Order: sequence, then structure tokens, then C-alpha cells
Amino acid sequence: MKSLSQKIMSAVEAADLIKNGECIGISGFTLSGYPKAVPEALAEKAIALHQKGEPFKVTIFSGASTGDDCDGVLARAQAIEKRMPYQSNPSLRQGINQGLIQYRDEHLGSMGPMVRSGALERPTLALIECIAVTPEGKVYLSSSGGNSATYLECADRVILEVNSIYGEEYIGLHDTFIPSLPPFAKPIPICKVNDRVGSPFVQISSEKIKAIVYTERHDKVNPFTAPDEISKTIASHILDFIHFEHRQGRLPKGLSYQSGVGNVANAVLAAMAQDSRLSKVNIYTEVIQEAVLPLLQAEKLGFASGTALTLSVEAQKQVKKNISQWKDHFILRQQEISNHPEVIRRLGVISMNTALEMDLFGNVNSSHVCGSSIMNGIGGAADFARHCYLGFFMAPSVAKNGAVSAIVPLVSHVDHTDHDTMIFVTDQGVADLRGLDPITRAKLIISNCVHPSYKAELTDFLNFSINQSKKGHLPIALDKAFDMHLRFLQTGSMHK
Ligand code: COA
Repeated sequence: MKSLSQKIMSAVEAADLIKNGECIGISGFTLSGYPKAVPEALAEKAIALHQKGEPFKVTIFSGASTGDDCDGVLARAQAIEKRMPYQSNPSLRQGINQGLIQYRDEHLGSMGPMVRSGALERPTLALIECIAVTPEGKVYLSSSGGNSATYLECADRVILEVNSIYGEEYIGLHDTFIPSLPPFAKPIPICKVNDRVGSPFVQISSEKIKAIVYTERHDKVNPFTAPDEISKTIASHILDFIHFEHRQGRLPKGLSYQSGVGNVANAVLAAMAQDSRLSKVNIYTEVIQEAVLPLLQAEKLGFASGTALTLSVEAQKQVKKNISQWKDHFILRQQEISNHPEVIRRLGVISMNTALEMDLFGNVNSSHVCGSSIMNGIGGAADFARHCYLGFFMAPSVAKNGAVSAIVPLVSHVDHTDHDTMIFVTDQGVADLRGLDPITRAKLIISNCVHPSYKAELTDFLNFSINQSKKGHLPIALDKAFDMHLRFLQTGSMHK
């Protein structure tokens, strides 16, 4: 049996172990903790083979999106046959929208169990970034948990990228727990955000390790941009609403927050740090974003549990400097635990996710522009939206300099149905849809959330629909429902 040191090799040598047609389970979640050197070498290998007229493509299963030095290089090398789940890379997005890459985004909390149960194909190889590995096969994951434990368990061959950028102080951030599949599943004993129920490493048979590649590279996360005025307004609407609910006695204090990806979500966290009405904030989320750091610095962060610590390079350096003192505030879990319905319900999470468009009746589209072009995916939003205590969907009331309204008669693609949404928020205001019938919902959304320049058209649509469907419970004039989308596709603007 080879010792670990005999398995150390270059990224090019490791990439050579990967065969055409393989399904590779990789680490990584929203640009953190993904392998970097081997994907680049694999892309080079694919390009060289393609130039010789030989085929080379692989299927990539990840936690969620990865950096350009993984998803981007592989997509541009035309080395990806199929990709699951979530992505956010421009080159990969282009390949998917051109029909060159098969793509399916499952709910992020469901992907691991679907792989373990055999519902999805079994990765033949796991390519995982870690901080360290021991001769006994203890793998210490890096900045994300993702589905790494599942891929390490399922794959017969393992390639590890040991990234020295983190340093051993990072060890201990993870709590790795994989539930048994039904009918043997037991309750997940997380009753508080900071409960630890697993182990700080993933145990594998060291015989499965076929290559160890040493790297020293940061996660390629874009610099944090300060929230703009629109995002700040949305954030203040959300916080005002939460305080109002507290005052009404409908929302207990001490619940944890989940915040989705993107600019608006970051703005909400940033606003929390400055909100004197909030004391300690606990976070039970998927991505712990950079905007959590101001909470930490303001001594307002109780605890943050997630599956990824997604930080710009500057923030990664800052966290590294303070890791021993800040480590006690964070836990990284596998994504099926960070996004587990049972835990989300038990903790009573307040969930905040961003939409591309929302319709008059409560449905949300977060993933497909005009119903067909993928933006990123649904991600873990539905894991939270469906099971949260209080759920917000938010978006600027207009996009593309006013050419697009975030509120439309009917969404062009449905990620979250009207049964899974509660509160809509735009820069115009808040619509609490809970318990409202379709017509009351539509009127409230028009009154509180629609941009003034689209109010007349949406009001006309609603009145026309009500008159046309005299007997219907949910009035939708189907022949007019997509007029705004069609106009946008034809003229570049939803305006008449
Ligand atoms: N039609 C067309 N384009 C639209 C649009 C619409 N209805 N709404 C927004 N856009 C465009 C914006 O103009 C912007 O384009 P640009 O990059 O060319 O400027 C882009 O979409 C992103 O919009 P932005 O306002 O910058 O939003 P964001 O960074 O907050 O991201 C989502 C918004 C919806 C793309 C992002 O939150 C997402 O992918 N969500 C789905 C996954 C999810 O919710 N994950 C969290 C689960 S925990």
C-alpha cells in the first residue's frame, strides 16, 4: 500500500488520472472551497485531446457554483458534458444557454441524498479541496462543506487538493454529519444554531486516495461592493417589517436568519449591523457572505452556521488573521444539513431570498430570464422558503434601467409557487401575502411593490382579468399574461 507522500503529484499528473466520460463529485459552494489546480490542468488536457480530434468531456457534480478557475476554464475548454447543481459562471451559463452543456439544478439540500440513494449517477471520482489529510484518511475540508462528504463516500477514487492558503488554524470549523437514508433516518439533533452533531473531518479509506496535489490559492470571490441606495431601501423595508412583527407579538425574538446570494441579500446583512433595534443576530444559512463580517465587528453576531464561508480575497486575509478569535462564531456543515427542512423548521428561520421576477398572485422566478435563459439556478432558496418561519422574496422594482419590471402579471418560469411565498419586498414597499386570496394579493402587490411606471399596465391587466374570468377564483387573462415579457423580447423594454 502506498503512503500518502507517495501519492503527491502535480496537477497535470492528477488530471491524467481522470477519464473521458467520468462523473466527478467536486467540493465547492458559491465560489468557496472548490478545487483549482486540477480543473485547470483538466481543461488543458481536454483542449489538447480535442485538438487531436479525440473526445473528452466529464460530468461535474458540485456543492453549488465554483470559481472561474474551475467552472469557467472547464466550460471554455468544452470539457463539461453535464453540470449539477447550481452555477453562476458566465462561460458556463453561456454554454448551458447555447445548449452545449446539459444542466440541472436540484434543490441544494436534496442533491447529496439523491446521489447516495442512486437516484442520480454515482460519481466515480471525488475531487476535493481540503486543508489537510492524515494517513488514517481524515480529510479536513476547506472553506465549504457542500456535498464533499457524500462524494468522498460514494467515489472509489479520490483526488485531494491540499490548499495551504488556509493554515491549520482553520481546522475545527466544520461539523460533518451525514444522515442515514430513509427508512433508517433519525432526527437531526440540531436544536440551536451552534449545535455540533458530527465531526470536524470526513473519514475515508486512505486507499481510495489516488493523488494529492498541493496548492496555495485563494477562492476567487469578487470584491464586496457596498450596497446601492435601492438595496439599502429594500433592506430597511425588511428590517422595519421584522420589528413591526415583533411589536405585534407575531414574531418571537431570537429566531435565526437565512440570507440568499446577491447584492440585495448582502445589503440586508449590512443593514442589520447598523440597526440599533437589533441586538445579537444568529444566522442559519447556506452561504455565510462577507456582509456577516460587519456584524462580527459590531459584536452583534451571535453565531453563523452555513455550508460555505464565501469571502473576497481581502476578507479571506482578514479572517485568517483573526481566525483563532473568530472561529467560535462559525460552523460549516454539509449542505444537506444547512438546508435541511427539519432543522429549518425547528429553528424557525427568517428567510430572505432574491427574485428575478414575482407575479401578482405570489409566484416567484429566480432562475430563468423570460422563461428560458438560465441566470444561475434555484439554489437552496426553496429549501428555506418552503420551511421557514417567515419568508421574504425581494428584488429591485425595476431592472435594466427601468426596462424590466420585477412584478409581472404571471412569472415566465416558476421556482417558488404562491404556496411557498409569504412576503414580497421591493424598493417601493412590502406586501404581506399571508392568508390573502388571489385578488387581494394582486391589489396589495400593485399598491405596495410595483414601480410607478408599471402600475397602470398591471392594474389594467388585473381589472381586465377580473372582468374576463367572472367565475374564476384566480383571474388570469391568459392571452395577455405575457404581454410585458413579449414586448421586452421584441423591443428591449416592458414599457408600452
Ligand atoms: N429580467 C431580466 N434580467 C433581470 C431581471 C429580469 N426580471 N431581474 C434582474 N435582472 C438582471 C439584472 O439586470 C442583473 O443583470 P446585469 O448583471 O447584466 O446587471 C442581473 O439580473 C442580476 O441582478 P442583480 O439586481 O444584480 O441581483 P443579484 O446579484 O441580487 O442576483 C439573482 C439576483 C436572482 C440572480 C440571484 O439572487 C440568484 O441567482 N438567486 C437564485 C438562487 C438563490 O436564491 N440562492 C439563494 C438560496 S439560499
